[in-house]
Amino acid sequence: MPAFIITQEVSNQYTEIAQQFGTPTYIYHENLLNTNLKTLSGLFKDLPVKWLYAMKANDNPHLLKRVAAQGFGFDTVSFEEALLGSHFVVPEKIFYTENNMTDGEMMAAIKAGIRLNIGSFTRLKKFAEANPNSTCSIRIKPDIGDGHHSKVVTGNKDSKFGIRIDQIEESVQVAAKFGVKITGIHMHIGSGIKEPKNLLNAIDKMLSIASQLPDLKSINFGGGLPIPYLPADKPFDVQEFEAITAPKLKSFLETHPNVEFWFEPGRYIMGNAGVLLSRVNTKKDQGNKVYLGTDTGFNHLVRPVMYDSYHHIVNVSNWQATTVEKFEVAGNICESGDIFASDREIAPTEEGDLVAFMDAGAYGMTMASAYNRRALPAEVLIKEDGSVQQIRVRETAEQMLDELFSKTAYK
Ligand code: LLP
Repeated sequence: MPAFIITQEVSNQYTEIAQQFGTPTYIYHENLLNTNLKTLSGLFKDLPVKWLYAMKANDNPHLLKRVAAQGFGFDTVSFEEALLGSHFVVPEKIFYTENNMTDGEMMAAIKAGIRLNIGSFTRLKKFAEANPNSTCSIRIKPDIGDGHHSKVVTGNKDSKFGIRIDQIEESVQVAAKFGVKITGIHMHIGSGIKEPKNLLNAIDKMLSIASQLPDLKSINFGGGLPIPYLPADKPFDVQEFEAITAPKLKSFLETHPNVEFWFEPGRYIMGNAGVLLSRVNTKKDQGNKVYLGTDTGFNHLVRPVMYDSYHHIVNVSNWQATTVEKFEVAGNICESGDIFASDREIAPTEEGDLVAFMDAGAYGMTMASAYNRRALPAEVLIKEDGSVQQIRVRETAEQMLDELFSKTAYK
């Protein structure tokens, strides 16, 4: 179930936002973001647990600032993300999990003093050579994967990510040749974990391999904490997760007292804090199906098309309706696959109504593109005190073209 329901107050505020800033617009709720951050940082209180935010979920600087203010570091997966993170936290709080990185990216990260998490044996060798007498972390392939869709399962045996468990010893030796100590191990089994048992088993596995690493200081268990998208989905019970995991960590600390534990969720922090607000501009009866055509598309929210993901859709203008009708909710991209929802029950909807795609705070804006040469959505933050701040302006058509001509050096 989405984190909140539309009330008269929310409907009024969204309507004003649409009037003032236009649509489509991503709207974020600071109170929900802060609640999510506090929920997580309140866990494992008496244990050396650190929280990183996986900024790929949403990297609007105004949101990153708020995440950093709650004491979170950043999980990053490119030099660009790591550099962005360094505007908000010290380099030690940035964890850069590389994936097929180039030598240039590696050297830049080393120079910036960012913690590198290395995911292949050959890259580890290159790192040790380039940066002797240093430290790094390695990403392990735990051979346990999970995720809301096959495209986001990462820890499975055949995954492209991570170093094989049977290569750990050799990794330690290769690094040691250059005086490099492997002080961290990392895993990330996938995103939107469906079966928490898989996460728990992978945690056990990481704890059991730790003895192979004499210099270990941190174990990073990755992200993947799911959120409810469908009305029938149950929220991931973080307290239960803590209750099961804390004793494992405590007993591990008895033999490894200097080790820290890290988690790096993205979706759990941003997902329910954001919605994509759009206006229905075309209603069309195609015989068997009634289409609601919106002013956005998979260029702005790709999850339904890419992963068949469900986003709850609410008619903000007719939120009080007590009946529903079935609609195809379509985007404005010139592809027949640009459908947000099929046979979806929504309040009776007419042209001009505002609809909100719920739980779109994570992997919404960061995955948006300019396909069909359309501008990105605007972004707006509703602050805890109820005031509204625009945190990204919408580009005009002229600005889009200026940028195109300038980047293509077209005169
Ligand atoms: N750590 C690493 C190394 C990751 O690759 C990811 C996500 C995370 C942490 C954060 O995962 P989370 O807690 O957000 O599940 N675009 C997809 C999700 C891709 C996730 C990629 N990696 C979606 O829209 O569902």
